[in-house]
Amino acid sequence: MPADQRSLLDTRALTPQDIIDLFRLAEEFRERGERDGFYYDPARGPLREGSKVVALLFFEASTRTRLSFQAAAYRLGLPVLTMEFAGSSVVKGESLADTILNVVAMGPDALVLRYGASAELDELVPRLGIPVINAGFGTLAHPTQALLDAFTILRERGRVEGERVLIVGDILHSRVARSNFDVLHKLGAEIGVCGPERFMPSLAELPSGSRVFGELDEGLRWATVCMGLRIQFERHRSQDADARREVADYHRSYGITRARLQSLAPEGILMHPGPINHGVEFSSDALEDPRSRVLQQVASGVLIRAALLARTVGMAKLD
Ligand code: CP
Repeated sequence: MPADQRSLLDTRALTPQDIIDLFRLAEEFRERGERDGFYYDPARGPLREGSKVVALLFFEASTRTRLSFQAAAYRLGLPVLTMEFAGSSVVKGESLADTILNVVAMGPDALVLRYGASAELDELVPRLGIPVINAGFGTLAHPTQALLDAFTILRERGRVEGERVLIVGDILHSRVARSNFDVLHKLGAEIGVCGPERFMPSLAELPSGSRVFGELDEGLRWATVCMGLRIQFERHRSQDADARREVADYHRSYGITRARLQSLAPEGILMHPGPINHGVEFSSDALEDPRSRVLQQVASGVLIRAALLARTVGMAKLD
């Protein structure tokens, strides 16, 4: 299969069946992991351990995405090539594009990549000639997060189709929201959004049939899944006084608290992709709510990223 077909730059390239196939493989890995501690089938060998290498390049901060890719690769027996940004030659002035080209010249079988907004890199990445997995590019897409979110909903609610997913917060600056709109809509979930007008995307960006809630309590009464989003302080223009004022008021109107969660159905679930700004989008006690599935999302992340790595470097057939 050509490298560009094994890349995952945006979920828009995936069909609903592709997503279902990934979920099946992730579920298989979960069962194997619980039984054997690793994801490959011992009867079929350690999946040519050492014959495939994956490079992880993160030019923006990450805890969950980076380490879960690493954990997934280890459990697949797939060696990882990675570097600390602060210890790389980027600090000597090497460009990110040159860094990527040099790492690709070392011959990894796939590249997992995160960077901030960069038109130059957006143009370079599809031309690298090896499969690339988007681990979060700018504000455009975070496909693996959306896939793990939908997988978590499937595991925790038993289905995605027909679920009513309320996405709360800084949707305008969120690549997680954009990818979630696509994946959840494809899988038949209903989508609602809620947040300050300033953080709302245009209606044209929302999937057809989406609901916009002015009041959080109203949205929570509608939802079966509530997904809080981080306020993306680093993507706000610092001179933007309106945005700062909105953030100051945010928790009062849109912060998810134990008291507010009374409006969410008892069997509903609460999610957040992390990292959380405590006291802003969630109160410190919201995570203690028994409906919180925030850490289950992290566990799902390892499984989904393992399934994607396996697909990308040809370790597993998804048909
Ligand atoms: N959700 C997410 O992308 O977290 P990290 O930035 O820690 O990877």
